[in-house]
Amino acid sequence: MKEQLARMRAEALAALEAVKDAAALDELRVKYLGKKGELTAVLKQMGRLSAEERPAMGALANEVRAAVETALETASKKLEEAALERKLKAETVDVTIPGKTAHMGHRHPMYMALDEIKEIFVGMGFTVLDGPEVELAELNFDRLNAEEGHPSRDWSDTFYFDADSRVMLRSQTSPMQVRAMETMELPMRIIAPGRVYRKDEVDATHSPMFHQVEGMVIDKNVTMADLKGTLNKLVEQLYGPGTRTRFRPHHFPFTEPSCEMDVQCHKCGGAGCPTCKGEGWIELLGAGMIHPTVLEMSGIDPNVWSGWAFGIGLERTAMRRFKIADLRLIFENDVRFLEQF
Ligand code: DAH
Repeated sequence: MKEQLARMRAEALAALEAVKDAAALDELRVKYLGKKGELTAVLKQMGRLSAEERPAMGALANEVRAAVETALETASKKLEEAALERKLKAETVDVTIPGKTAHMGHRHPMYMALDEIKEIFVGMGFTVLDGPEVELAELNFDRLNAEEGHPSRDWSDTFYFDADSRVMLRSQTSPMQVRAMETMELPMRIIAPGRVYRKDEVDATHSPMFHQVEGMVIDKNVTMADLKGTLNKLVEQLYGPGTRTRFRPHHFPFTEPSCEMDVQCHKCGGAGCPTCKGEGWIELLGAGMIHPTVLEMSGIDPNVWSGWAFGIGLERTAMRRFKIADLRLIFENDVRFLEQF
């Protein structure tokens, strides 16, 4: 029995020393220490020993069990460590490999131009207003002195919501003038950017939806010279010092006198080219001195207060600012185009 135990111990320790994986380890545990294992088989023979022999043999058997158990534990630890080592190796991070660059978007060129415009006017003490795109015809037309029958009120030009032509998609940002006069204290300086809608077919210079920025100043002793000075400042800051403008007489129902402002063509510098249709100038905005009737309708005394207003096309401004030839590029959102800015 003694030899049997000694052989078993030697065998078990050798096997455990060489064990390669957890399954094999479990097999060895069962083989040597399991209920039907080799140690149990040896112990079953204890009955055959004399009472004197039994304690020494029992002690030896316990010693062997303890040795095998220790070896099992050591082998198990070794396997765990090896597994961890393999895992760490497999998951090694090479910090020297260049990272993946995240693709960052940026502002749309038209909104970049709008931000510049806002910054220029905020710097001159203007407040930026926001207003509804679904507007009352009363504010879009009547309160701006565009009487019944005015061509801009025609169904062929305007998106109305109802048969009575009372609610519409605003065709200009000018109703924001009325909203400001209704709600703000005098004197006031405001700009109001936003979308406007007209029944136009899409082409290189037209879209049924586009953007305007309305501007308005009401104060005492305000003159056309203030208007020209402010708009020239805007153009110089947007397009660079020395950019030339010209003011042409025009008609708008809500201003008197009215004008349109042109900027010298950025393509040909004024000589005349296809971009400016041979004119040398490109129309940028409408403006004028606020009509006394418009002030009066909003409860402002035109004998005390005077004001000027303008409406600038934002797409057109951005197209000139970034030298974009076709309006459709602004709306199509083709990233190959947008990424250039
Ligand atoms: N609302 C005009 C348009 O859409 C532009 C305009 C002209 C606005 C003169 C004004 C203005 O405030 O004074 O064509």
